[in-house]
Amino acid sequence: MKRRVAILISGRGSNMAALIDAAKAVDFPAEIVAVISNRVDAPGLEKAAASGIPTLVVESKPFGKDRAGFEAVLQRALDEKEVELICLGGFMRLFTAEFVQRWYGKMLNIHPSLLPSFPGLDPHGQALQAGVKISGATVHFVIPETDAGPIVMQGAVTVADDDTAETLSQRILGIEHRIYPEALRLLASGKLRLEGDICKVADGADRDGTLISPRTI
Ligand code: GAR
Repeated sequence: MKRRVAILISGRGSNMAALIDAAKAVDFPAEIVAVISNRVDAPGLEKAAASGIPTLVVESKPFGKDRAGFEAVLQRALDEKEVELICLGGFMRLFTAEFVQRWYGKMLNIHPSLLPSFPGLDPHGQALQAGVKISGATVHFVIPETDAGPIVMQGAVTVADDDTAETLSQRILGIEHRIYPEALRLLASGKLRLEGDICKVADGADRDGTLISPRTI
């Protein structure tokens, strides 16, 4: 049985599209049963609908600071669709600790940095400001703290001296689209194990991978 997944978005939805694409494969262990946006103008909604995925808008703005009120409506929508797992794809709304607890171990997020470095806003600018030579993207389980939680998968890219936030974000986005579907595959097929704050993966070790930047030889 495929696991039933909802993708929550607020904007463009390119990670959403990558997940929808991956889930088309007959052997993918999850199916995308809904795309839910908290913004009515999220461009990702049209993309999802064009792929034949049911879409839903639960606007967060009218709820203002009433996070619990928003989440009650969201939870009802998730219940109606019998959602088992959630993927956040550029979902720009913080959850209450209660909602996060309810979905602990079942809700993934993606962030365009090698967490725990550079959480929050403008991670690409933060990476350039710090002068790191390698950056990347992280898929992690969601906890109440923003852009934190047990790390499921990371992908790295080199950072060049002449990179801008724009060029770096494009390079990292390519990695995001590769690792998010793989992370969901692992979660949906029961290959992830949480040991406290650490996520371990059944048969998932790569001890040989290296990435050196800048390469001078
Ligand atoms: C992605 O780069 C994602 O990693 C980032 O928002 C973008 C959404 O793009 N998420 C965060 O920064 C979370 N803190 P998308 O709508 O095209 O997937």
